[in-house]
Amino acid sequence: MPEPMRAATGRAAAVEVEQLGAYLGAEIRGVDLSQPLDDETFQIVHDALVEHEVILIPDQDITVDQQMAFGRRFGELSIHPFSPNLKDKPELIVLDYNEGNPAFATDVWHSDETFREEPPMATILRSVLVPKVGGDTMWASMTAAYDALSDRIRNQIDGLEAIYDIGPFRRLFPDTPEGRAGMRKMEDLYPPQSHPIVRVHPVSGRKALFVNPQFTIAIKDMSERESRMMLDLLFRQAETPEYQFRLRWKPNMVVMWDNRSTQHYAVHDYYPQRRKMERVTIKGDRPFGIGAGRVAAAPPRAIRNVASGPHTERGDGQARQFQRLIAEE
Ligand code: SIN
Repeated sequence: MPEPMRAATGRAAAVEVEQLGAYLGAEIRGVDLSQPLDDETFQIVHDALVEHEVILIPDQDITVDQQMAFGRRFGELSIHPFSPNLKDKPELIVLDYNEGNPAFATDVWHSDETFREEPPMATILRSVLVPKVGGDTMWASMTAAYDALSDRIRNQIDGLEAIYDIGPFRRLFPDTPEGRAGMRKMEDLYPPQSHPIVRVHPVSGRKALFVNPQFTIAIKDMSERESRMMLDLLFRQAETPEYQFRLRWKPNMVVMWDNRSTQHYAVHDYYPQRRKMERVTIKGDRPFGIGAGRVAAAPPRAIRNVASGPHTERGDGQARQFQRLIAEE
């Protein structure tokens, strides 16, 4: 029998979670990240992340140490091998984009660092400087994107694996003997990885489409042409507005997303304005697919009447209305 819900007590009683998007996104109020989170508040935030996939906590004028402490409540922080980080706190990435330093590799749909054997479970981004216009971030629910596929495509991709590679980060190495040597070293440290195309979320059991155009280069056991066609189809799922949540940033917003169930895209429409964000990332486990037996996979939700969903019934209502109008004339 499910445990009855216990009412929150103490500081946790002031915490409110408001759903923002149909499939992802929630705002959490009543949390102060400049203070250590008590266990009850942490549990509410953790559960909101798993349920809503992206959580927004506004008005957090916090230090980088406080942001890192919040991240450490969820697990060990990871160090990005290619992103600009603080010298003395390498877990903290500073994304400071401006006229002389345009955004790099964030305006492509992706889940963070899926070139790793164990990609990060979640990312926490805090807005420091926000452009007057533009600079939104978009997220896509990859559980909704998976659930909305037809049974036929789901049956075809369940159990398949794809190859993930360091992709765009190769461009960081100059075409010089030193640059090429540096790139080979990183390729040795981060060789291509196989991950399931359909990942089972280790907490919710929801199935999520895990391929992304930034790091996924091929589907295993398919010809190059088949792989390209299937990947194009699957990549387009993240582009479907119905499964997305888009955020207009204000300074001091903290947003945390679950890399196991979402992808994101930083809209690069603000150049040459400045946009500065600070980011920490929490280590994750090795993705597993259907049949791994780690957790029971949840059945797909019935997602209907969206752009890419099964279309057999779409337009029927309007057609009936139209036919009635014609008959009345
Ligand atoms: C990222 O891809 O981690 C950065 C997202 C953003 O800057 O909005």
